[in-house]
Amino acid sequence: MATHNLLLLPGDGIGPEVATEVEKVAAWFGKAGIATFNTEKDLVGGAAYDAHKAAITDAAMARAQGADAVLFGAVGGPQWANVPYHARPEAGLLRLRKDMQLFANLRPAICYPALASASSLKPEIIEGLDIMIVRELTGGVYFGEPKEIVTLENGEQRAVDTQVYTTHEIERIARVAFDLARVRRNKVTSTEKHNVMRSGVLWKKVVTELHARDYKDVTLEHHLADACGMQLVRWPKQYDVIVCDNLFGDMLSDVAAMLTGSLGMLPSASLGAPDPATGKRKALYEPVHGSAPDIAGKGLANPLAMICSFGMALRYSFGLADAADLLDKAVAAVLADGVRTADIAAKGQNAVGTADMGDAVVKALSKAAH
Ligand code: IPM
Ligand code: MN
Repeated sequence: MATHNLLLLPGDGIGPEVATEVEKVAAWFGKAGIATFNTEKDLVGGAAYDAHKAAITDAAMARAQGADAVLFGAVGGPQWANVPYHARPEAGLLRLRKDMQLFANLRPAICYPALASASSLKPEIIEGLDIMIVRELTGGVYFGEPKEIVTLENGEQRAVDTQVYTTHEIERIARVAFDLARVRRNKVTSTEKHNVMRSGVLWKKVVTELHARDYKDVTLEHHLADACGMQLVRWPKQYDVIVCDNLFGDMLSDVAAMLTGSLGMLPSASLGAPDPATGKRKALYEPVHGSAPDIAGKGLANPLAMICSFGMALRYSFGLADAADLLDKAVAAVLADGVRTADIAAKGQNAVGTADMGDAVVKALSKAAH
């Protein structure tokens, strides 16, 4: 039985609670004789700041670089609102993405049939929804230089962020989108703002040329990013794979996530380029939701996004597609059985806690395996 090295970075807020449930699930796969996960743990975000005055230490970074996959919980909380900017909790996540060169962020938005009524949209609009947002993660306005606040001669301040993309950066993220579309419904929607941004003009040109060169079999369309946001809440099922830059992807993926009824349901994967020698990609998996400080420590958080993030690791890092399918099946079964945490419970429906939901998934795994 293969052994995989997993680095668990629970982080802050509800991160540690949902991470505990993933450990249960990983242990089940070991006991079932499917794969062994050798799990190390380290600090990130506010927790790392409290211990080391840094959002992530060099030692933790080295462990992340060496792991087969990193599983990340969530970072941030009001108690770190005033720490130095370079050491704010989010800086830990941004350093992981940048140093590990995780340029491709995959954010599926899937509507489980059992949860169609939890969406704020009409059931017929989101039933059966299955879209994939591919967000560029290591470039654009989040990282472009200059990035600064300067004081002008007249005493005013001026803040600058820089949106910057090169051909190579656009092409490699577009390839990820086209490749994914080929194993899905074969359609890519590329989004940008070429009507106002030079980076949008280049984005559209590079995607169009790559399509003509290597991906003629895939349907390609272009939507302005703002219009895409509008279409996502109007008729989301028109989309299959949506590819976008870092900033638009951040926003559009939150919109897409909420279509499904709960942010607490959605996993994500952040992948690097395949290693030319081994074919392996550096990878980090994390729930799309944040640290939810308001419910942290209460045992109320929904662990399914974190559990499904582990499922994405099974699929994209460990080559265990059957195990990933089994886990997806178990999660769907638990939901079909009516097990709900507070965030996805309908009015009057009984809600269970974090640990109960994790236990229910483990039980469903045993059942699904037989
Ligand atoms: C996300 C988050 C992060 C981002 C924050 C925490 C830096 O919102 O993963 O979407 O903006 O990328
Ligand atoms: Mn975000």
